[in-house]
Amino acid sequence: MEIESRIARQGADGGIEIVPTGAVLGAEVRGVDLKALDELRFEGVKRAWHRHEVLLIRGQTLADQDLIAFSRRFGDLDWAPVQETGRRFVEGLPEIYIVSNVKLNGEPIGSLGAGEAVWHTDMSYLDKPPMASTLYALEVPPSGGNTSFCSMYAIYEALPTELKRRIASLKIKHDGTYNSGGFLRQGVTPTDDPRASPGAVHPLVCTHPDTGRQMLYLGRRRNAYLVGLELAESEALLDELWSFVDRPEFKWEHVWQVGDLVMWDNRCTMHRRDPFDDTARRVMHRTQIKGSASPA
Ligand code: OGA
Ligand code: MN
Repeated sequence: MEIESRIARQGADGGIEIVPTGAVLGAEVRGVDLKALDELRFEGVKRAWHRHEVLLIRGQTLADQDLIAFSRRFGDLDWAPVQETGRRFVEGLPEIYIVSNVKLNGEPIGSLGAGEAVWHTDMSYLDKPPMASTLYALEVPPSGGNTSFCSMYAIYEALPTELKRRIASLKIKHDGTYNSGGFLRQGVTPTDDPRASPGAVHPLVCTHPDTGRQMLYLGRRRNAYLVGLELAESEALLDELWSFVDRPEFKWEHVWQVGDLVMWDNRCTMHRRDPFDDTARRVMHRTQIKGSASPA
């Protein structure tokens, strides 16, 4: 109540500066220190995040504990998936996921290497996928490794009416075999049969629990399967839907600087990463905020 009346006095964004990217999604929040964000400004950040789907906050200096503390203000955190090598990333901090190509004593310190990471949503092979991920840049290569985001609201809205009708009641299996870098997940038997692979089944069209908007929920392409359809039919329909994903009008590309924090809504967006020179270093730390419910 108190917050509401203060917001009414100071403006809906709590006095913080929100600069939309100009693309269909994404905005930069300026003038905030995420280590010292009062309740009013935090509410402003949260509103902007619901509205713009992805937020960029530059110039931060965050230790892992700070990244965790900021993320926790949105909700409980999921533990990171174990590393491709089967190890945990940061001793004592299971919430931190490291994305990096850097090797220490011949062992990668993080996931996804230096290759392309294909379009995906994080951890949608779980029954309750995270609602958000935050990714914080500690080291970035001089070029390459840009991350793009696409709006699954905008993609859904752009589908022809007839296609929307065909997919309205379908369910899709989100594969848990491979990650977006094409690496096999820890403890999984490899298979390329989407009907047999491990994963979670979610509605193909979901309603966002916070905004009430409808969105297409694809997760990732490899090993995806439209439950109950002949495999060939499922593949053809998925290809048709995926042909919308990489169009310029649905995406925003981010060029990283050290100190950038990017937070995406993991329900209504997907992301991908360009490859980069493996002799350069790229180190990013991520948290994932628990979803409150299964996608529906
Ligand atoms: C992730 C991810 C891409 C990148 O952290 O979930 O997909 O740009 N990262 O490192
Ligand atoms: Mn990801």
